[in-house]
Amino acid sequence: MKADEFYMRRALRLARKGECRVSPNPMVGAVIVKDGRIIGEGFHACCGENHAEVNAIECAIEDPAGSQFYVTLEPCCHQGRTPPCVERLIALRPARVIVGTIDPNPLVSGRGIAALEAHGIETTVGVLADACAALNERFFKFIQTGRPFVTLKFAQTLDGRIATRTGHSRWISSHPSLRFAHELRSTHDAILVGVGTVINDDPELTVRHVRGRNPLRVILDSTLRVPPSSRVLSARDDARTLIATVGNADPEKRRRLERAGVEVLTVPPDGAGRVSLPHLLGLLGERRISSVLIEGGAEVITRVLAARLADRLVVVVAPKIIGRGTEAVGDLGHDRMEQALPLTLRRLRRRGRDTVFEFTVEKNPQPV
Ligand SMILES: NC(=O)c1ccc[n+]([C@@H]2O[C@H](COP(=O)([O-])OP(=O)(O)OC[C@H]3O[C@@H](n4cnc5c(N)ncnc54)[C@H](OP(=O)(O)O)[C@@H]3O)[C@@H](O)[C@H]2O)c1
Repeated sequence: MKADEFYMRRALRLARKGECRVSPNPMVGAVIVKDGRIIGEGFHACCGENHAEVNAIECAIEDPAGSQFYVTLEPCCHQGRTPPCVERLIALRPARVIVGTIDPNPLVSGRGIAALEAHGIETTVGVLADACAALNERFFKFIQTGRPFVTLKFAQTLDGRIATRTGHSRWISSHPSLRFAHELRSTHDAILVGVGTVINDDPELTVRHVRGRNPLRVILDSTLRVPPSSRVLSARDDARTLIATVGNADPEKRRRLERAGVEVLTVPPDGAGRVSLPHLLGLLGERRISSVLIEGGAEVITRVLAARLADRLVVVVAPKIIGRGTEAVGDLGHDRMEQALPLTLRRLRRRGRDTVFEFTVEKNPQPV
């Protein structure tokens, strides 16, 4: 078992190299071992291109027949943009295929393993299963629900403020935290803010401080009050913008935005007449947006938490106190402690002077 974990760990490291470029596909790594030596390895590098198994096979320095074939996710058995990996494996006849997790994609979901076994290839499933599943939590949520994985992120002072009493928030956190924020953006398909943040801060919402692709910029704006001079409306590199609004928004404002090259998407309203977040997430999922980073501001953070829409919470805490100001989280309608949103700490790290908390938001069956 020790050897299985060793090589699966190597496959996991390889898989992570595909982050930022494989979405909405999963990150996958593969390692081929023969006579105790690695003879081939690969990872899924880009959506639409070779899967990890094929890359490992194609760079193998020896015939993989009789080998131990490690892969972090169950090999696919359906024709997608590339042929089924299971067929390649069956043709190669490895002695054993060792899999991290079953692929929750209904088109695969155990069929890949069954096909290998039906052809007499031994399989071992579940090596470093938790780590392999955690690696692809965004893909797993997307493929199982059709909705993107939601990360809610904000930077706050030690006393829980995301802006001063005048709305000034630049910068709460340090430069290393800003780089971290851009790293986080580059790993998501879309980034979402409320129009209040656009009006207050005029952010660009791009990935500038690190290498990486720009996510789709999504602005919640029920009445199309986004200022025409806003930086999010100007095209920058590959950064595209989508304004999510409701049906009764001013048609002239809509046309003006569309003429400026911005997509305006009509979303059903929520009970308050604003953009319904669950509907918007569903529509983004239909466009194969598999992950969304929500960056605020206060009203949006509060609505996302109240509706239990966040899967992961990332809070950058700066060692500063500003007293009265904008609370990061407003009224959630909780009167009793047992109503508190349950969080599980998954990671704690330092970025410059700041502390970054990363939590899983536990699902509560009773939305507020
Ligand atoms: N420190 C940080 O990490 C951070 C990050 C971002 C922002 N901020 C700060 O936060 C402040 C802005 O926050 P804010 O609360 O004024 O504005 P906001 O949360 O950015 O935007 C709120 C606006 O979004 C629109 N909206 C549409 N649908 C919505 C929905 N379903 N739920 C919530 N909002 C929806 C609403 O305007 P309509 O009704 O017109 O549609 C609403 O007023 C600024 O001071 C900014 O500096 C801090």
